[in-house]
Amino acid sequence: MSLVDDFVREFYVERKGTNSLKHDALKRRFGDENLLGMWVADMDFKTPNEITNALNERVNHGVYGYSFVGDEYFDAFFSWQKDNYGVELKREWIRFNTGVVSAIYLAINAFTKPNDSVMIITPVYYPFKNSIIDNDRNLICSEALLKNGEYELDFDDIEQKIRQNNVKLFIHSSPHNPLGKVWSDDELSRLFEILTRHNVLIISDEIHQDFMMSSKPFISALNVQNGKFSDNLIVMTSASKTFNLACLLHSVTIFKNEKLAKIYDEMAKRFHQTETSILGVIAATFGYKYGKKWLESLKVTINFNYEILTESFKNENIEIFIAPLEGTYLAWLDLNPYTKDTKDFMQRRCGLAIDYGEWFGKNAKGFIRINLATKPEIIKTATTRIIKEIKANF
Ligand SMILES: Cc1ncc(COP(=O)(O)O)c(C=O)c1O
Repeated sequence: MSLVDDFVREFYVERKGTNSLKHDALKRRFGDENLLGMWVADMDFKTPNEITNALNERVNHGVYGYSFVGDEYFDAFFSWQKDNYGVELKREWIRFNTGVVSAIYLAINAFTKPNDSVMIITPVYYPFKNSIIDNDRNLICSEALLKNGEYELDFDDIEQKIRQNNVKLFIHSSPHNPLGKVWSDDELSRLFEILTRHNVLIISDEIHQDFMMSSKPFISALNVQNGKFSDNLIVMTSASKTFNLACLLHSVTIFKNEKLAKIYDEMAKRFHQTETSILGVIAATFGYKYGKKWLESLKVTINFNYEILTESFKNENIEIFIAPLEGTYLAWLDLNPYTKDTKDFMQRRCGLAIDYGEWFGKNAKGFIRINLATKPEIIKTATTRIIKEIKANF
């Protein structure tokens, strides 16, 4: 038995009938409950046993009263960041949230005013755009450029738009969802130089940091040029993508700059956004302490799924752009050469529920995002259906 087989046998789980957004909200979101759910970024795998056991222990204790975050959590989180990414943290820099998206909404309110300009690199995780629009801020997008099969930042466009729109805040996805791009030290340095030169505050959303799928290393914004940009930086992360804990509602926001932390604290206090979920804290602690081996097997499984996807098209001589999977567990494909109506193609003909490119950015129409964090059989089914429909038309 291979490692992938072992991992799937132990951790894959049927999620239908559990109020899962991915599998049970298909009618609501896509108008058809019979689609195969391959969208939203969570996984069809159980968390590491150590997390489940720790949660069980707390559940058996039976009390969930007011709590604080103890030493064990900080030790586990700080060791994870230091051992894996060389990031050194201190307690006074840490704030907690119920999720990275909530933290972004709060930060927008803390650090900008209505009508201020906030910039993102598109296509990008769509709540970034929503957080800007919902708060009546001015949305400024710079398109990532696709050059020789790789995505790049358009530094000239970024700088020009900052100048033209007096941009105050920049929200970065690192690694990038949905492009699967791991930003290099050079790319981050150049970007942060521009942003800092123009006094644009940086939010670095690093929630997918633990999914380095190639040999490229993850560089936290905190470590770019030995921490040169820390004063102009807010870093957000969570164990929720890593260990499949999204609905336990726990994430971290990091401020090295005391003044920024103070401004943020005042805003968080106004909305009393200072509590933590005890189950989220326990799950993160035990994931960071004991989840490394599970994560390594998970990543092998995701890479195996990515290979099924890419090899299947190759074997059928179908030329299709699939972004290199450097980071995240999300595949990004361009269906433009094969259909003008992606929704009809994916839903009516293939029976698949995926994330549509236009959700992530205007110019990404015809692209799709497929969630690879499931068992290989499902990736094979989806790929076979797509290939069959492409062939039926060409
Ligand atoms: C880049 C990015 N940020 C944030 C989130 C969601 O974070 P949370 O559930 O903690 O709000 C996701 C989920 O897919 C994501 O891809």
